[in-house]
Amino acid sequence: MAATQMEQLVSLCKRRGFIFQNSDIYGGLQGLYDYGPLGVELKNNIKAAWWRAMVYERDDVEGLDAAILTNRKVLHYSGHEDTFSDPMVDCKKCKGRFRADHLTDGKCPNCGSTDLTEPRPFNLMFKTTVGPVVDEDNIAYLRPETAQAIFTQFKNVVDSTSRKLPFGIAQIGKSFRNEITPKNFIFRVREFEQAELEFFVKPGEDEKWHEEWKNTRIAWWVEQGLKRENINIYVTPKEDLAHYAKACIDLEYKFPHGVEELEGIANRTDYDLGNHSKAQNELNLTSHCHENKESTTKLCIMDDDNKWVVPFVIEPSMGVDRAVLAVLTEGYTEEDLGNGNSRIVLKLKKHLAPIKVAIVPLKKNSPEIMAKCHELKKNLMKLGIGRVALENTGNIGKAYRRHDEIGTPLCLTVDFETLEQSPESVTLRDRDTMEQVRVPTAELAQYLRDYFAQ
Ligand code: GAP
Repeated sequence: MAATQMEQLVSLCKRRGFIFQNSDIYGGLQGLYDYGPLGVELKNNIKAAWWRAMVYERDDVEGLDAAILTNRKVLHYSGHEDTFSDPMVDCKKCKGRFRADHLTDGKCPNCGSTDLTEPRPFNLMFKTTVGPVVDEDNIAYLRPETAQAIFTQFKNVVDSTSRKLPFGIAQIGKSFRNEITPKNFIFRVREFEQAELEFFVKPGEDEKWHEEWKNTRIAWWVEQGLKRENINIYVTPKEDLAHYAKACIDLEYKFPHGVEELEGIANRTDYDLGNHSKAQNELNLTSHCHENKESTTKLCIMDDDNKWVVPFVIEPSMGVDRAVLAVLTEGYTEEDLGNGNSRIVLKLKKHLAPIKVAIVPLKKNSPEIMAKCHELKKNLMKLGIGRVALENTGNIGKAYRRHDEIGTPLCLTVDFETLEQSPESVTLRDRDTMEQVRVPTAELAQYLRDYFAQ
C-alpha cells in the first residue's frame, strides 16, 4: 500500500482513542498531546520493552527515576543555560515566529514574506520558581533532557551499587522544551518523554562502545517492528553537534512527514561529569566549559589500576513519543479484501499491542454466553499476558473491525457451540491472517502463553 499519511494516523488516533489534542475542549494548547485509553497502553508497552532490553536483560545497567524540576545550577554547569537554544526569526509582516534553520527558501512559511528579522538565539528551557518567593534566587527549570540527573546522581549510584566501568544508568521520563515551532503531530512537541541511557566507559574505549550501541539500538528497533530499510543512519557533521558531544549518530525513521530523527546516540565524552565535578583541576579532563566552585562532589570512579578516572559517556537517547509515532506508522495498513471491501489493520508486534486478546460474545444478551466470557476473562488475566478486554457491542463484525484497527492480535469468540459442545471450545481469530481456529478451553491458557512468548 501507499506510504502512510499523517492525516490517516491522526484520524485513527482520535477515532479509536490513542492520542488527543491537549485541552481540546478549549481549543488545544500548541505542542501538547494527551494519550487516550489505547495510547497509554501502547506507550507503556514501548517503555516496558525498552526497560526490559536496557536494564533487565543486561547485567551492566541500573535504573533511576529523578525529579523533573531541576536546580538552576545543574543546567548552568551543564551548559544548557548558555547554549540550549535554537535560532529564531520573526516575520515582520504577519508577526509569526519560526526556527531559522527550518526555513527552506528564506520566506515566512505563513505568509510568504521575505521581510524577516535576523536570526537570534531562543533558549528552549521552561523556567519557573520554586517556593512562595518569586525572585532570581528561586529560579528552577523543567528539565530539557532526563540525562542531567543521571550525571548529578552518578556518585550516589556508584557508591550504592559498587559498579565498575563499563556500566550504565537508564531513565525514562518527561522532558520539556519550549519549541519555537512544534509540528508534525507528536513528532515535535513541548512536553515529551525520553528513554535515555548514560553508559559510562573508560576514556579511549568510547568509540568502540559508540559503534556497539549503534548496532544494539538498531536491532532493538527492528524487534519493535520497524523495517531495517526504514531506518537511516545519519552521522551529525561536527558543526551541527550539540554543545556536549564529540560525535553523534542519529537513527532516523521514515515518518509520514519525512525521514527524521528517532533516536540520537551521542558520545558526550567527560563533558558532563567534568562540568559538574568539584576539583576539576585534579581530574585531567579532556573537555569542560565552566569552572565549578559550587559542586560538593568529585564525579569520578576508580579504574582497575586503582586510578581515579572521569568516564566518557555514550548516550542512546530515544524519544518515546517518536517511538509511538514510528510503530504506528509502520503498523498502519489498509488491505483490499476484494468486492469493494477493505479494512484497516494496525500490524503492531504482539508485545506492543494495547489489547492482547478481545473476548467477543456472539450475543450480548445471552446470560450464559456472557457468564462464560466473564469467567474466561478472569482466568486469562491470571496469565500476565497484558490487557484482555471484554467486548460487549454484540456485533461480531464491528468488534473484529475495531480490533483490527487498534492492533489486537487475537479475538476470542464465545458462541453457542462453546457452551454445548464437549469438550468446551472457543474460536480464536488472528488479526493479520483473519484465520480462525477452535481451541478447547482447557488448552487455552497454554495456547496463549506459547503464542505471546514468541
Ligand atoms: N540527552 C540527549 C538529548 O536530549 P536530543 O537529540 O536533543 O538529545 C533525544 O533528544 C531524543 O528526544 C530525540 O532523538 C527525539 O527522539 C526526542 N526529542 C527531542 N526533542 C523532542 C521534541 N520536541 N518532541 C518530541 N521528541 C523529542
